Amino acid sequence: MFECFHNFEFFRQTTSLKILFLTHSFNSLAQRLYVELMRCGHDISIEFDINDSVTQQAAELFQPDLIIAPFLKRAIPEVVWRIFTCFVVHPGIIGDRGPSALDWAIMKGHQEWGVTVLQANAEMDAGDIWAAEKFPMRFTTKSSLYRREVVEAATAAVLTAVRRFQSGIFKPISLDYSRSDILGRVHVPMRQFDRSIDWQRDSTLAILTKIHAADGFPGVLDTLFGQSYYLFDACSERYLTDKPGTIVAKRNNAICRATVDGAVWIGHLKPKNDTGPALKLAATTVLQDYLTDIPEVSYDPFYMPFDDTYRDIWFEQQGSVSYLYFEFYNGAMDSRQCKRLRDAYLKATESDVRVIVLMGGADFWSNGIHLNHIENAISPADESWRNINAMNDLVHAIITTDHQLTIAALQGNAGAGGVFLSLAADYVFARESVILNPHYKNMGNLYGSEYWTYLLPRRVNESQVKSIMQNRFPISALEARASGLIDDCFAVNREDFKKKIRCVAEAIATDPGFPELLTKKQCQRRVDERTKALQEYRNEELNQMQLNFYGFDPSYHVARYHFVYKIPHGWTPRYLAKHRALKSAKLI
Ligand code: COA
Repeated sequence: MFECFHNFEFFRQTTSLKILFLTHSFNSLAQRLYVELMRCGHDISIEFDINDSVTQQAAELFQPDLIIAPFLKRAIPEVVWRIFTCFVVHPGIIGDRGPSALDWAIMKGHQEWGVTVLQANAEMDAGDIWAAEKFPMRFTTKSSLYRREVVEAATAAVLTAVRRFQSGIFKPISLDYSRSDILGRVHVPMRQFDRSIDWQRDSTLAILTKIHAADGFPGVLDTLFGQSYYLFDACSERYLTDKPGTIVAKRNNAICRATVDGAVWIGHLKPKNDTGPALKLAATTVLQDYLTDIPEVSYDPFYMPFDDTYRDIWFEQQGSVSYLYFEFYNGAMDSRQCKRLRDAYLKATESDVRVIVLMGGADFWSNGIHLNHIENAISPADESWRNINAMNDLVHAIITTDHQLTIAALQGNAGAGGVFLSLAADYVFARESVILNPHYKNMGNLYGSEYWTYLLPRRVNESQVKSIMQNRFPISALEARASGLIDDCFAVNREDFKKKIRCVAEAIATDPGFPELLTKKQCQRRVDERTKALQEYRNEELNQMQLNFYGFDPSYHVARYHFVYKIPHGWTPRYLAKHRALKSAKLI
């Protein structure tokens, strides 16, 4: 569709643009676009979509050349799009219009889907088209599609659209349904009625499709033990089954429910609460009182020859390299998960492998302590304490590994404590389009632990330590490599990344110099320990964390509450809304 316009990009201007992001939140897509557009030299400020007058005010203050809406839940007000060119990122193919775009694409079983960048006008998603990208669909959750395919396609489409806008001569294409190549259509929002599961009739595939299409938000409303819950985080089960609808097993966080032709595991539930917000939690936590007679069907993380079952920690071994996967929902790690992961890790260190690769999860490497689980505890302060200590125990086990070399392989994004967990490894490699949030401050000025005061200065200089910890912005893997925070980044595609990681790990394991490398590591650890004991770093960090958890300043508890209950933002934090900081400076 856009072939005839490619020549116009020849006129691309190199001047930077003032771009205002108008977004519901600074989510993974907004963060990725932020780092990519900053890299192109653009000047970006961010405003959360709070209400029309705030949006108008932001545009007037910043006077942007262009407004980009990476993730919006409402229309852009007319007073804004009439004056400023506004690009809306729609997670659908050209012609697709309306909410629940990805939900319908999954439910309808489309083989191919896409992202369109269109110009806001009076009709929702019907504006002129500036760029579009397509991708093949995977049978997976909506959240996973969003974090991988949608983010990649949207990044490519937005960069193209911005270049076309800069050219000054590109004419966007109007939406014309009479064209045979426009396959998308207008659709209505998906309702719970469209998502509902009939356990006596629906096949495993149909049930998985429904839960996948609702993953992240809003979940599939269903009934369990007479109560209403939203279901999330489902996968198939190869062997277990029973009468359709019965809960046949539990395993760590998940319950296994029989279908007409097998069973599905459900990892997370959110109780339907008509009077207020509810928390999304592990299914076995939510239903614990009902599950006493349900058998716990465990598995061996070291021997799992098939993947159609529920597993959150598992190993693969090839030669003298062991790959440890930890696929925790949303990358959040509660105290028990940290302990299970540490136990599994320590078992791997007892084997004769030479290299242990920490693979994390495919979508998120790790996002640190489990804030929902903490919020749900009788004492969130005590649970925060337990969780950070469990994280620290895991990090300690990795730092003090003295018979293997370790690699952190970040296939997916990492945030807060998750980033510092990765720095515990001897080598840190990331996929090229990974985004890191190596700071804790956004969670109510949390000081952070995970031995960051030891791990960060090992990699970057003093002023970098300060700026990384103070700066609340996401950074790209490329920036992280440039600063020395990580060793290297390569490959955008996950399979290519994994192949390269295997090559690197095998090369280290078979290197004739391996014994010397190991000796060097052991000596360095001894020197570091003599200079300042790990326990001392831990104590100092935990003293600060104790203040965060138990002190007078409740900022961490307030920020966590807002985060887990997804309380809409009342204002945009000043570090994001640069235009508002400028305004305050003028007033002073
Ligand atoms: N605990 C519990 N849930 C978490 C989590 C954590 N540490 N980190 C992320 N999540 C959940 C989010 O609530 C969201 O849940 P949903 O499925 O109900 O929507 C989901 O993971 C995805 O998070 P989202 O913020 O939409 O992803 P993102 O890629 O846009 O942003 C982060 C990633 C890391 C920047 C952001 O999730 C974050 O700030 N997380 C908190 C990190 C933190 O402070 N950890 C504690 C200190 S160690």
